[in-house]
Formats: sequence, C-alpha cells, structure tokens
Amino acid sequence: MLGVSGGIAAYKSAELVRQLCAAGAVVRVVMTRAATEFVGARTFQALSGEPVWCGWSDDRSGMDHIDLARWADRILVAPASADTLARLAQGRADDLLAAVCLATEAPLLLAPAMNQAMWRHPATQENVQRLAGRGVQLCGPDAGEQACGDVGPGRMREPEALVEALAESFASGLLAGVKLVITAGPTREAVDPVRFLGNRSSGKMGYAIAAAARAAGARVELVSGPVALEVPAGVACEQVESAQAMLDAVLARINDCDIFIATAAVADYRPAAPAQQKIKKQAEALSLQLEPTTDILATVAALAPRPLCIGFAAETEQLEQNARRKRMHKGADMIAANRVGDGQGFETDDNELLLVWEGGERLLPRTTKARLAVQLLEQVANLYARRLSSDNETSQPYAKHSA
Ligand code: PMT
Repeated sequence: MLGVSGGIAAYKSAELVRQLCAAGAVVRVVMTRAATEFVGARTFQALSGEPVWCGWSDDRSGMDHIDLARWADRILVAPASADTLARLAQGRADDLLAAVCLATEAPLLLAPAMNQAMWRHPATQENVQRLAGRGVQLCGPDAGEQACGDVGPGRMREPEALVEALAESFASGLLAGVKLVITAGPTREAVDPVRFLGNRSSGKMGYAIAAAARAAGARVELVSGPVALEVPAGVACEQVESAQAMLDAVLARINDCDIFIATAAVADYRPAAPAQQKIKKQAEALSLQLEPTTDILATVAALAPRPLCIGFAAETEQLEQNARRKRMHKGADMIAANRVGDGQGFETDDNELLLVWEGGERLLPRTTKARLAVQLLEQVANLYARRLSSDNETSQPYAKHSA
C-alpha cells in the first residue's frame, strides 16, 4: 500500500505507482487531504487500476482502515511530510492513513520529504528516531536543491530507489520476523570528568552484523559504544558510553528479543571511584583502584526465557581453547573467536573468525567484515532454527518469539 501525504514531492508518487505496477505489485493508494491539493486521486486510480482512499469519508465499510492494514504486505508512505512523521510518531489515528499505519502489522517504510530546515529541526529528528526505534524503515531523504530554493537534506528519494528499497525489504528473509539485539564498539569508563579507560574497537564488526541482519529481514536494535560510523538503514540504535549504560540499554530491549549478539568490546573493569574533578598532575605515581563490571553476555544468557546468545572472544593466544572455555563460562550458545593485537581484529576492515558451538565449529577465513557478518548470520540462523525445532519437540519455549 502506498500512503501519499501533502507535499510538492507528491507528483513523484505517480511515477512511483507506475514503476511499482510495472514490477508486478498491486498498489492501493491512501492519500491525506493535504496530498489531494498536489495530485488528484484519479491520477493514482488510473495508474494503479485500484480504488484510491482520500480520507475517512472514503472508508465505505467503516472497516476499510482495518482491511487495508491487513491486506498490505508493506506500507510505504511517500512523500512522508514533517506533519505525517510527527503524527505517526505520536501513534495518532485521526486520519485514514495514520489509522492504517497504526493498525497494520506489515513493515512500514517512510520516504520523508520536506524543507531542509524542517528536516533538521530537533522535533523532526526526535520523531524520526522514535519511529526508527520501533523498526520503521526510513528511506532518505536525499540532499540537493529544493522546490523552495533551499539546498540541503529533505528531497524525497527517487522512485527507482524506493522501488529498490521495497524489493530489498522482501529480499533474503533468512531472519524475517526475528528480533536481534546487537552490541557494538568500545565502552568508556570514566576516570574523572575528562579521562576514561577505553579500547580500540571501531564498531565495524558489530555494525556490519547489524546491516547484514537487517538485510536478512530481521528487526535490529543496536546498542553502540562511541564510534564514528553511520547507523545502517533500518536499524534502531541507542548510543551509550559505559559498560553499565550498555547493560541497562540491552536489558531494556531484551524481553522480546530472539537473538542476542555481543560484539562490543566491553570493559571488564572500571575505576571504583571516578574523581569528581579533573585529577591534577603530581610528582608521585598514581594508582587507580578498579572494580569488575557486570558481564552483559553472561547476564542475558542467565535470563529465563532467554534469546539465543552469541558472544565474541578477542584472544591473543590459544584461540580455540579460550573460545570454548568462554562459551561455557558465559553460558553462550556460540562464540565467534578472533585473534586481536598486532593489527588484527580491532579497527581493521577484514577479519577471520572461528565459530564454536556445542558439538561443532566452523572457520570463516579472512575476508571483509561485511562478508563475515553474512556468513556468521547463516550459522546463527541455522542454530536458531535447530533450537526452535528442538523446543517444539520438547515443548520447552527457548525464546518468546519464533521466526
Ligand atoms: O569493533 P571492531 O574494530 O570492528 O573490532 C571487532 C572486535 C575485535 C571488537 C570483535 O570482533 C570482538 O572480538 N568483540 C569482542 C571483544 C571482547 O570484549 O571480547 P572478550 O573476549 O573480552 O569478551 C567476550 C564476550 O563477552 C564478548 O562477546 C563481549 O561482548 C562480552 N562481554 C565482555 C565483558 C562484559 N562486561 N560484558 C560482555 O558482554
């Protein structure tokens, strides 16, 4: 189903309908009242060969909004105006399009289009974050010259790209309907207001897994330490600093999680009493008292019910033995072990992983982290499917949700 809200970019939606129909899609269009001031309903009707809804007055049965919500495999709103983003973020149902979006269980894709200042406004950005956090996929906006003469982000993505985004949303499906929580990057443990203990993790491995999981159809929530990477499209992300904040963010979203992947390089120790003021330089040696942090992976693995738990092991020696020991010790279902130090593992664009699980192992030879992420998820999906089928046989629910 295509939702069209009010904006000059609505004229591009006619071409979008044409291209979707040419690709074999059955397209039903729901317009907001504001959209009808830019394009006529008959244009969409002629192009789609389907009825068009322009508001509650077109809800002929009084249940059209529910029927449309159930009928749609995907809902794309293009253009999605600033007002529409705000209304969807609030979960309003006071026009037909918003009501359908609220009632549907189909994946929702939004193609924002608005003036660059409206797009940049913190209110719009908060709405976008809130929607992304619910698993809504944002397609664009693109940057460039705008109808109002401004230049900047806010142009609706071109119809070709939107057709592609829709096609991709049907793509691999290996993890369709599965919710993943992934940790990535380093943590920072405060020594004083300006100094911290950290590590070399760039977040590349975790972000690659998040992108690959999203492409495989999963709902992905990333909990990330401080990194300089762009959050992959369609992935909801919470930025954190410390091991404790990462633990809290993970536990806040673990309830309905099917698979947990702990890629982050979490500090094992933190300063026991971080100084309230900047520590002054002094002649004598300085000692820091450290205390252990809570192990996030072990905490999640001890929950009941619990998701399938995948951990990493960063090792400088005895890779396989340490990985097997870590798997048992932390209660993880699988460990992806990698050698670190001497320019390996951390910060690099490529890596090599040894996967170990109960009764099996597989070496993923050196390649890019993006390819490794896809191969790792194949193995994770196998393990998840096996676990689900053994749960069905024993009637023991392993995770709350099934694929
Ligand atoms: O980010 P990149 O630059 O791309 O580098 C990738 C990587 C090297 C960071 C990644 O491949 C990796 O190895 N991540 C795990 C790093 C690590 O902390 O390993 P560990 O062996 O110390 O911890 C074992 C497991 O326990 C990990 O899954 C870790 O996330 C988890 N852990 C550790 C401590 C803690 N307090 N809580 C945890 O959940």
